[in-house]
Amino acid sequence: MNQDEMKKAVAEAALEYVEAGTVIGIGTGTTANYFIDALAAIKHRINGTVASSVASARRLESHGIEVLDLNMVDEISVYIDGADETTRHLQLIKGGGGALTREKIVAAASRKFVCIADESKLVDILGTFPLPIEVIPMARSYVARELVKLGGEPVLREGFTTDNGNIILDIHGLQIMEPAKLEAQINNIAGVVTNGLFAIRPADVLLLGTAKGVTTLT
Ligand code: A5P
Repeated sequence: MNQDEMKKAVAEAALEYVEAGTVIGIGTGTTANYFIDALAAIKHRINGTVASSVASARRLESHGIEVLDLNMVDEISVYIDGADETTRHLQLIKGGGGALTREKIVAAASRKFVCIADESKLVDILGTFPLPIEVIPMARSYVARELVKLGGEPVLREGFTTDNGNIILDIHGLQIMEPAKLEAQINNIAGVVTNGLFAIRPADVLLLGTAKGVTTLT
């Protein structure tokens, strides 16, 4: 299987976690797109979706899948999304597509988080993939200086604005030994909206696409 086939395989395997008669949380990115396409075949079984980005909402709607406002929803049974890096402990870096804030909100509001990823995303230590930070534009320089103090090299994602009207700083050069601690530290910097570490609330299940098929880690 090539990388795209692995992404498709994990996306299809995630259908098993879709509970009939419930609302499903939908991630963002190429792997999540495969899940949206697979979900279309069973759309009549669910009560709608909550999307983590404008792009995913558009793709869901193009399949005739209902997209609901999170404020109108009591419970999301499961959140299905990809990752940029994952450890075997299911701690993640996300936000390569810049949707990290809404992804974190929908993950937090969901009973279960199923991460779908191909094996290229599996790492021993998080940080080779630059850690995305969503920042209020006026705080850009201040936040960047604080991130340097934490040992990183922040780089502005040029020409990019998030769905929330903010900027992204990608932090290079980190070796993240204590992901939950760093997640909390970065959250405490004034002007940071969200960081791309999903460690305080990691995934509950990881469906990992390998050359031999889909492996489940919990
Ligand atoms: C979007 O902001 C990200 O968190 C994605 O979930 C992540 O970048 C994975 O994307 P791919 O499935 O495209 O690799």
